[in-house]
Amino acid sequence: MKETDLIIIGAGPGGYRAAEYAAKQGLKVVVFEGAEVGGTCLNVGCIPTKTYVHSASFSEARERMAQVVPQLRSGVEGILSHPNITLIREKGIFSAAHNTVGDYTAPNIIIATGSDSKPIPVPGIDSPKVVDSTGLLSLDTLPKRLCIIGAGVIGMEFASVFHRFGSEVTVIEFLKECLPALDSDIAKRLRKQMEKEGITFNMQCGVKQIADGEVFFENKKGQTESVEADVILVATGRKPRVQSDFACVGFDYDERKGIAVNEHFETTVSGIYAIGDVNGRQMLAHAAEMQGIHVVNHIIGKEDNIRFDIMPAAIFTSPEAACVGPAEDWLKEQGTPFECHKSFYRANGKALAMGETEGMVKLCTEPGEGRILSAHIFGAHAADLVQEVTAFITLGATLRQLRETVHIHPTLSEVLIEVN
Ligand code: NAI
Repeated sequence: MKETDLIIIGAGPGGYRAAEYAAKQGLKVVVFEGAEVGGTCLNVGCIPTKTYVHSASFSEARERMAQVVPQLRSGVEGILSHPNITLIREKGIFSAAHNTVGDYTAPNIIIATGSDSKPIPVPGIDSPKVVDSTGLLSLDTLPKRLCIIGAGVIGMEFASVFHRFGSEVTVIEFLKECLPALDSDIAKRLRKQMEKEGITFNMQCGVKQIADGEVFFENKKGQTESVEADVILVATGRKPRVQSDFACVGFDYDERKGIAVNEHFETTVSGIYAIGDVNGRQMLAHAAEMQGIHVVNHIIGKEDNIRFDIMPAAIFTSPEAACVGPAEDWLKEQGTPFECHKSFYRANGKALAMGETEGMVKLCTEPGEGRILSAHIFGAHAADLVQEVTAFITLGATLRQLRETVHIHPTLSEVLIEVN
């Protein structure tokens, strides 16, 4: 048995960033990865979809994806070639001794195995026309008719991009509004904008059956309708990737919710940590990365102030949507005193010059120009604008301090200080 300081299972954004950071702090790290390095994000998730978003056509997207993904992958391989890191190209499996994975043993182990798409239990789900996001990204031809089940992040991003490439897109969603985590006002405006551009949305509809290329669903009046499609994307959520060998280690986990962790992402077995999608907390690549850094800090006894409660997120539709902090609906439900400040892209010089006038900013603050609580934005470059507000929220800044910060003219960021 070989000894090391830290074993990491999985080389996705959580795993490889934790390895890089731990190696720089002087720890000897062994990383197990049974597939390509980079995880879902780099190989079949964030990066390929953003390549699609920024390509003019389906064929250009396919070509660019074939260049961008291997390029980034070799970047990650470069990171993992650090002298303190050993990359083992096989699946990391725990043995009965809970601190042992493969041929290695270590006082600390990080599980960063990610997630898989979660299919829905309806008849016909195994039809060859049904794909998950990975399957959709590997299509060689553009589907003429694409039916998307689920108007969450994945469903909305693919609806937007495939519609732009020329597919006829129909979305079927169980809930009343798309993007359940987003402010409902912003979500509705985004959906209406996408509807205006030609995407069909069937809201409050439950899929009952898939027969070859036909999706049968029950609408809100209880009537059965159907949509015919060449490809059917199931985007109804993802589930933590738990392995059967986890049972021998003894920590608490649930097939659906993932591995239970404390505030340091440590499982119920001391020295074993779980970061990223597998702990089911926040299924976002940047959350996984920061969780990994926090775990390494915890292992080496270094304090940090990473605010996991301030987690920005973006949806790369056209236009983009992004958010940080609680939605207005949630603040109302909690009875929290707050003010809501809005501004619109159509009043912003740069947005007009760019021809990107569809968009809105919503900032929720404590009353009286107080501390900023949240930002929900839809419109061009919403993610970048939310990132600015994230910095202000993290520093505990007020709306007044945001307004008193000089913003370059003309930029989209001026919409933030133009809030009423
Ligand atoms: P999601 O949880 O965001 O959305 C799933 C949607 O499917 C929900 O609106 C739900 O109501 C609906 N649904 C569930 N069962 C249904 C049924 N039987 N019929 C109709 N609708 C149904 O999940 P999604 O979009 O699959 O994404 C998975 C994870 O990946 C999320 O946690 C997301 O945050 C993450 N992700 C993040 C991205 C980003 O940050 N830009 C990009 C892609 C994924």
